[in-house]
Amino acid sequence: MEQIATVSTLFMPSGAGPSVRGRLDATLLEVAELYTALAAGRTDVDPSGVLSALRVDLELHFALEEGDAYFGAFVRDRPGLAHGVAELCEEHTVMLERLDGLRAMVTALGPSPELAEPTARFVQAFHDHEHKEADLMQEAVLRDDGTGPD
Ligand SMILES: [Fe+2]
Repeated sequence: MEQIATVSTLFMPSGAGPSVRGRLDATLLEVAELYTALAAGRTDVDPSGVLSALRVDLELHFALEEGDAYFGAFVRDRPGLAHGVAELCEEHTVMLERLDGLRAMVTALGPSPELAEPTARFVQAFHDHEHKEADLMQEAVLRDDGTGPD
């Protein structure tokens, strides 16, 4: 079974793009509080509301990343990394589907301790994705792949 990060490192700021970073990070803090409450067996929480807010924020975050001003410009500058960008976009789709699955669990179970671990694993997957994305962007800056204008 994959190792998940400790709670303190798992629920760090997202590293999201500047325009939505504050809002997404605020929601991730709510998810952290939700995780802690669920893991403690508390039922006075609203997992449906928190995860719905996360769905809205992530959908916007991914849409902005996939837009012409970010991934579009990136691929124009570095067409050799288009495949990596396409993989990131696919991961966005998979993460939203996974989050919808988690929300379906919430509908079925209500505020249950069983939701704690899948919630943490989802946030871990998001951070792993964001790190992969940051690495690709960094690679583009550091590497001249011979296809860019410089
Ligand atoms: Fe992304």
